[in-house]
Amino acid sequence: MSAQPFQINKEALPVHVAVIMDGNGRWAQEQGKDRLFGHLNGVESVREIVECAAEWGIKYLTLYAFSTENWDRPQYEVDGLMGLLVDTIKKEVPTLNKNNIRLNVIGDLEMLPANAKSELLSAIAETEKNSGLNLIMALSYSSRWEIVEAVKKIATDVQSGSLKAENINPAVFQTYLTTASFPDPELMIRTSGEFRISNFLLYQLAYTELYFTPVTWPDFKKEHFLQAIEDYQKRERRFGKTGQQIKTEKQTT
Ligand code: IPE
Ligand code: IPE
Ligand code: MG
Repeated sequence: MSAQPFQINKEALPVHVAVIMDGNGRWAQEQGKDRLFGHLNGVESVREIVECAAEWGIKYLTLYAFSTENWDRPQYEVDGLMGLLVDTIKKEVPTLNKNNIRLNVIGDLEMLPANAKSELLSAIAETEKNSGLNLIMALSYSSRWEIVEAVKKIATDVQSGSLKAENINPAVFQTYLTTASFPDPELMIRTSGEFRISNFLLYQLAYTELYFTPVTWPDFKKEHFLQAIEDYQKRERRFGKTGQQIKTEKQTT
């Protein structure tokens, strides 16, 4: 990367960045175009941000692509968006392999049409040996769905005797989430000027640094991503402790 305008410490990058990719529809409508045109251009930003995250050695990138609530949009948009997402993932498999990127999907895949689900599962299988960036697509995902599913599984395990109720703690609970094998994000970015979480990783975001930008997703490019990381690196993460404690810990490590 030439003329690096950002002050980024490569030793202190977030391990996991999560993104709510929002604003595709408004981006298109502002130009008098169909909302699907916005989603199509949003795919270009996905490519660019995935490439940038891989280049910088970020280990986990979660992209919120379709929420459980998005199934309630007009059928035309749901069909167009689902088709676009699944087609893109399928087409990108060779590039993912070339860049050592492993694809993961979190969400209720049972709600997807059968062929879309099988396309996704084969893309996941085809990249499972890659050891670079973990790209986690949140598709048909909602956090309340995920938490309720976890509770159901826990109840079943308690009932069958494989788990004792008194042994349930946050560490055990997290193994029942769809994100069990990923660390919690250190940074969550939401584009398009909305200040809400929209049912995304409610449990996992407990101590995540939140970054909101007015830039809509189709306009969100590498420089915006790096700007978010730079901003994140200026923050002091205290986890309930005092600023003084954090400074002392830093000096002694
Ligand atoms: C984000 O853009 C993509 C999805 C939520 C699927 P939107 O489609 O929500 O765009 P806006 O927020 O209506 O502009
Ligand atoms: C959140 O965006 C979901 C995704 C980005 C996939 P929405 O556009 O659906 O969120 P709300 O409805 O404005 O909260
Ligand atoms: Mg939106």
